[in-house]
Amino acid sequence: MYQVLGWVSVILFLTVTAPYWLRNLNQSVPVLKRETLTQWTKLLRRIHKPLGIILMVAPPVHGYLVLGAFRLHTGSLAAATLIITAILGALFYFTRKPGCFTSHKRTALLSVILILLHLLAPGAVNYLLN
Ligand code: HEM
Ligand code: HEM
Repeated sequence: MYQVLGWVSVILFLTVTAPYWLRNLNQSVPVLKRETLTQWTKLLRRIHKPLGIILMVAPPVHGYLVLGAFRLHTGSLAAATLIITAILGALFYFTRKPGCFTSHKRTALLSVILILLHLLAPGAVNYLLN
Protein backbone atom coordinates (compact mmCIF):
# COMPACT_ATOMS: atom_id res chain seq x y z
CA MET A 1 0.00 0.00 0.00
CA TYR A 2 2.83 2.45 0.84
CA GLN A 3 4.22 1.92 -2.66
CA VAL A 4 0.88 2.80 -4.27
CA LEU A 5 0.59 5.98 -2.15
CA GLY A 6 4.20 6.89 -2.98
CA TRP A 7 3.59 6.66 -6.73
CA VAL A 8 0.19 8.36 -6.40
CA SER A 9 2.06 11.24 -4.70
CA VAL A 10 4.54 11.42 -7.61
CA ILE A 11 1.66 11.50 -10.15
CA LEU A 12 -0.16 14.16 -8.09
CA PHE A 13 3.00 16.27 -8.02
CA LEU A 14 3.49 15.95 -11.80
CA THR A 15 -0.16 16.93 -12.36
CA VAL A 16 -0.07 19.87 -9.96
CA THR A 17 3.06 21.30 -11.60
CA ALA A 18 1.86 20.50 -15.16
CA PRO A 19 0.56 24.02 -16.04
CA TYR A 20 4.17 25.17 -15.63
CA TRP A 21 6.15 22.37 -17.32
CA LEU A 22 3.60 21.69 -20.08
CA ARG A 23 3.78 25.33 -21.22
CA ASN A 24 7.60 25.35 -21.20
CA LEU A 25 7.85 21.93 -22.85
CA ASN A 26 5.45 22.98 -25.59
CA GLN A 27 7.54 26.10 -26.20
CA SER A 28 10.68 24.02 -26.77
CA VAL A 29 8.96 21.09 -28.52
CA PRO A 30 5.66 22.36 -29.99
CA VAL A 31 3.34 19.35 -29.95
CA LEU A 32 0.04 20.85 -28.82
CA LYS A 33 -1.83 23.53 -30.76
CA ARG A 34 -2.25 26.84 -28.92
CA GLU A 35 -6.00 26.26 -28.31
CA THR A 36 -5.41 22.70 -27.07
CA LEU A 37 -2.72 23.94 -24.68
CA THR A 38 -5.07 26.65 -23.37
CA GLN A 39 -7.83 24.06 -22.78
CA TRP A 40 -5.43 21.72 -20.96
CA THR A 41 -4.01 24.55 -18.85
CA LYS A 42 -7.54 25.63 -17.91
CA LEU A 43 -8.43 22.14 -16.69
CA LEU A 44 -5.09 21.72 -14.89
CA ARG A 45 -5.52 25.11 -13.13
CA ARG A 46 -9.00 24.03 -11.97
CA ILE A 47 -7.68 20.84 -10.32
CA HIS A 48 -4.44 22.50 -9.06
CA LYS A 49 -5.78 23.55 -5.66
CA PRO A 50 -7.70 20.37 -4.64
CA LEU A 51 -4.80 18.15 -5.78
CA GLY A 52 -2.35 20.44 -3.95
CA ILE A 53 -4.35 19.93 -0.75
CA ILE A 54 -4.29 16.12 -1.23
CA LEU A 55 -0.48 16.45 -1.60
CA MET A 56 -0.32 17.68 1.99
CA VAL A 57 -1.84 14.40 3.21
CA ALA A 58 -0.92 11.50 0.85
CA PRO A 59 2.91 11.59 1.33
CA PRO A 60 2.82 11.70 5.17
CA VAL A 61 0.37 8.74 5.17
CA HIS A 62 2.70 6.89 2.75
CA GLY A 63 5.67 7.69 5.03
CA TYR A 64 3.82 6.61 8.19
CA LEU A 65 2.81 3.31 6.53
CA VAL A 66 6.38 2.46 5.58
CA LEU A 67 8.24 3.68 8.68
CA GLY A 68 5.51 3.28 11.33
CA ALA A 69 6.45 6.69 12.76
CA PHE A 70 7.35 10.21 11.66
CA ARG A 71 11.15 10.31 11.41
CA LEU A 72 13.76 12.52 9.77
CA HIS A 73 14.14 11.07 6.28
CA THR A 74 14.56 12.31 2.69
CA GLY A 75 10.80 11.61 2.33
CA SER A 76 9.87 13.69 5.40
CA LEU A 77 11.92 16.60 4.02
CA ALA A 78 10.08 16.35 0.67
CA ALA A 79 6.71 16.07 2.44
CA ALA A 80 7.54 19.13 4.61
CA THR A 81 8.38 21.29 1.58
CA LEU A 82 5.18 20.11 -0.13
CA ILE A 83 3.12 21.19 2.90
CA ILE A 84 4.90 24.59 2.99
CA THR A 85 4.34 24.96 -0.79
CA ALA A 86 0.61 24.27 -0.44
CA ILE A 87 0.29 26.71 2.50
CA LEU A 88 2.09 29.42 0.47
CA GLY A 89 -0.21 28.67 -2.50
CA ALA A 90 -3.27 29.13 -0.29
CA LEU A 91 -1.76 32.33 1.18
CA PHE A 92 -1.22 33.68 -2.33
CA TYR A 93 -4.75 32.69 -3.35
CA PHE A 94 -6.29 34.59 -0.41
CA THR A 95 -3.92 37.59 -0.16
CA ARG A 96 -2.69 37.94 -3.80
CA LYS A 97 0.69 39.09 -2.42
CA PRO A 98 3.34 38.60 -5.17
CA GLY A 99 5.92 37.57 -2.52
CA CYS A 100 3.76 34.56 -1.59
CA PHE A 101 3.64 33.50 -5.26
CA THR A 102 7.44 33.77 -5.62
CA SER A 103 7.94 31.72 -2.44
CA HIS A 104 5.27 29.23 -3.66
CA LYS A 105 7.27 28.62 -6.84
CA ARG A 106 10.61 28.47 -5.01
CA THR A 107 9.41 25.86 -2.50
CA ALA A 108 7.83 23.93 -5.42
CA LEU A 109 11.29 23.80 -7.02
CA LEU A 110 12.83 22.71 -3.71
CA SER A 111 10.20 19.94 -3.57
CA VAL A 112 11.29 18.73 -7.03
CA ILE A 113 14.88 18.43 -5.79
CA LEU A 114 13.91 16.68 -2.52
CA ILE A 115 11.51 14.28 -4.28
CA LEU A 116 14.28 13.35 -6.73
CA LEU A 117 16.68 12.83 -3.79
CA HIS A 118 14.03 10.69 -2.06
CA LEU A 119 13.54 8.53 -5.16
CA LEU A 120 17.22 8.23 -6.14
CA ALA A 121 18.87 8.07 -2.69
CA PRO A 122 16.10 7.42 -0.11
CA GLY A 123 18.59 6.73 2.71
CA ALA A 124 20.70 9.90 2.18
CA VAL A 125 19.69 11.53 5.48
CA ASN A 126 20.36 8.34 7.49
CA TYR A 127 23.73 8.02 5.75
CA LEU A 128 24.69 11.62 6.64
CA LEU A 129 23.52 11.31 10.27
CA ASN A 130 25.26 8.00 10.99
C1 HEM B 1 6.82 11.56 5.59
C2 HEM B 1 7.31 11.52 4.34
C3 HEM B 1 7.91 10.29 3.69
C4 HEM B 1 8.56 9.22 4.26
C5 HEM B 1 8.88 8.98 5.73
C6 HEM B 1 8.87 8.31 3.17
C7 HEM B 1 9.53 7.09 3.33
C8 HEM B 1 9.80 6.20 2.32
C9 HEM B 1 10.57 4.99 2.46
C10 HEM B 1 11.24 4.52 3.77
C11 HEM B 1 10.59 4.38 1.25
C12 HEM B 1 11.29 3.05 0.93
C13 HEM B 1 12.65 3.42 0.37
C14 HEM B 1 13.53 2.24 0.07
O1 HEM B 1 13.15 1.42 -0.80
O2 HEM B 1 14.59 2.16 0.69
C15 HEM B 1 9.84 5.20 0.32
C16 HEM B 1 9.64 4.90 -1.01
C17 HEM B 1 8.99 5.72 -1.91
N1 HEM B 1 8.52 7.00 -1.65
FE1 HEM B 1 8.46 7.92 0.14
N2 HEM B 1 8.44 8.84 1.99
C18 HEM B 1 7.87 10.07 2.25
C19 HEM B 1 7.39 10.99 1.31
C20 HEM B 1 7.33 10.75 -0.05
C21 HEM B 1 6.99 11.75 -1.04
C22 HEM B 1 6.77 13.24 -0.74
C23 HEM B 1 6.97 11.11 -2.25
C24 HEM B 1 6.67 11.67 -3.62
C25 HEM B 1 6.03 12.80 -3.89
C26 HEM B 1 7.32 9.72 -2.02
C27 HEM B 1 7.39 8.74 -3.00
C28 HEM B 1 7.94 7.48 -2.81
C29 HEM B 1 8.04 6.47 -3.84
C30 HEM B 1 7.52 6.61 -5.27
C31 HEM B 1 8.70 5.37 -3.27
C32 HEM B 1 9.08 4.07 -3.97
C33 HEM B 1 7.97 3.05 -3.76
C34 HEM B 1 8.35 1.70 -4.37
O3 HEM B 1 9.14 0.97 -3.74
O4 HEM B 1 7.88 1.39 -5.46
N3 HEM B 1 7.55 9.55 -0.68
N4 HEM B 1 9.38 6.30 0.99
C1 HEM C 1 2.25 21.05 -2.96
C2 HEM C 1 1.38 21.39 -3.84
C3 HEM C 1 1.58 22.50 -4.85
C4 HEM C 1 2.59 22.69 -5.77
C5 HEM C 1 3.80 21.80 -6.00
C6 HEM C 1 2.29 23.91 -6.49
C7 HEM C 1 3.05 24.44 -7.52
C8 HEM C 1 2.72 25.56 -8.27
C9 HEM C 1 3.46 26.08 -9.40
C10 HEM C 1 4.76 25.45 -9.95
C11 HEM C 1 2.81 27.16 -9.87
C12 HEM C 1 3.23 28.05 -11.05
C13 HEM C 1 2.39 27.67 -12.26
C14 HEM C 1 2.65 28.53 -13.46
O1 HEM C 1 3.61 29.31 -13.47
O2 HEM C 1 1.84 28.40 -14.40
C15 HEM C 1 1.63 27.37 -9.03
C16 HEM C 1 0.68 28.37 -9.20
C17 HEM C 1 -0.35 28.62 -8.32
N1 HEM C 1 -0.70 27.87 -7.20
FE1 HEM C 1 0.21 26.19 -6.62
N2 HEM C 1 1.11 24.45 -5.99
C18 HEM C 1 0.65 23.62 -4.98
C19 HEM C 1 -0.48 23.78 -4.21
C20 HEM C 1 -1.31 24.89 -4.25
C21 HEM C 1 -2.45 25.11 -3.37
C22 HEM C 1 -2.90 24.15 -2.25
C23 HEM C 1 -3.00 26.31 -3.74
C24 HEM C 1 -4.19 27.06 -3.18
C25 HEM C 1 -5.04 26.62 -2.31
C26 HEM C 1 -2.22 26.83 -4.84
C27 HEM C 1 -2.46 28.03 -5.50
C28 HEM C 1 -1.80 28.46 -6.61
C29 HEM C 1 -2.20 29.65 -7.37
C30 HEM C 1 -3.36 30.59 -7.04
C31 HEM C 1 -1.30 29.75 -8.45
C32 HEM C 1 -1.30 30.83 -9.55
C33 HEM C 1 -1.71 30.29 -10.90
C34 HEM C 1 -3.12 29.75 -10.94
O3 HEM C 1 -4.07 30.48 -10.64
O4 HEM C 1 -3.26 28.56 -11.23
N3 HEM C 1 -1.19 25.94 -5.12
N4 HEM C 1 1.62 26.37 -8.05
